[in-house]
Amino acid sequence: MGLASWLIVKGLPLVPKAIVGRVASRYVAGANLDAALATVEKLAGEGAMATLDLLGEEVHDQARATAAVAEYERMLDAIAARALPSNVSIKLSLLGLKIDESFCRGNVERLVAAAGRHGNFVRIDMEDASTTDATLRIYRDVQARHRNLGVVFQAYMRRTLRDIEELPRQSANVRLCKGIYVEPRAVAWKGHETVRLNYLQALEKLFTRGVYVGIATHDEHLVCGAVALADRLGIGPERYEIQMLLGVEPELRRILLAGGHRLRVYVPYGRDWYPYSVRRLRENPEVAKHVLKAMFRGA
Ligand code: FDA
Repeated sequence: MGLASWLIVKGLPLVPKAIVGRVASRYVAGANLDAALATVEKLAGEGAMATLDLLGEEVHDQARATAAVAEYERMLDAIAARALPSNVSIKLSLLGLKIDESFCRGNVERLVAAAGRHGNFVRIDMEDASTTDATLRIYRDVQARHRNLGVVFQAYMRRTLRDIEELPRQSANVRLCKGIYVEPRAVAWKGHETVRLNYLQALEKLFTRGVYVGIATHDEHLVCGAVALADRLGIGPERYEIQMLLGVEPELRRILLAGGHRLRVYVPYGRDWYPYSVRRLRENPEVAKHVLKAMFRGA
């Protein structure tokens, strides 16, 4: 990342929200479910699957968490009614993890049961390190009763190789990503190459344990390494899929689809777009160019 981008990333909290919104709009499908469903339909036309995510996190009010569960139920009904190739992704801090763990577990179970009635699947996103233990507890507990639930592991976490050993023996389904939250060195590997190394180590461990993997990355080095690893281990294409974020590397997405890879796009929507968008902008190597352009055009 160049100096200009680094300065913009540091100064993002000072950039007016309207400008952040304009630059980040490529990462978000829209404000409501209809906009998100239209994006999923478009992606399906390209041959891609999707996972729908209702934006929102760090909820401390039961009514908001309950409203989010109701929105997810509407989402699952709409996906089924339109026969779309999409599952859903949830953040436990939106579903009440910071209010009460058992309240949150109940919400997750309600959603997983609703998804099960439609033959669909729910993935729990992984948030910052303060939530990992509770997230994995809820995942293991609900997965023991409902097989249509998956979780996410972050390759930057030092604990990830150990956590893989604790996965359920049956129907484990993991999305593997690098990890996006800023974590202290005590819990997270530091350095681009180190995280890549741990990513491929974790992937090998998941594959050899028979886990279905969502290989979530736009890093061409890792996509190449992952496909080579699957080939070397004799892992068939039905045992994994590649996953990418909406608005990131659409060219790579099209190349992978044309190459016959199964690919799923993470499609977030909703009014609570700011924290998610800021995380995406921080990862964009060209953030300075886009933010400056938007500022000169005026918000
Ligand atoms: P890297 O960051 O090195 O990016 C590789 C290349 O992709 C860059 O060089 C650039 O070209 C391009 N790129 C990446 N981000 C971009 C952006 N925002 N704008 C433009 N170009 C960009 N994390 C987490 O902690 N918990 C989770 O649950 C999830 N869930 C999740 C789902 C899916 C489907 C994906 C793809 C990712 C996540 N993540 C996540 C985020 C993940 O941890 C990671 O932060 C991002 O995927 C970026 O890492 P890459 O592996 O793409 O590599």
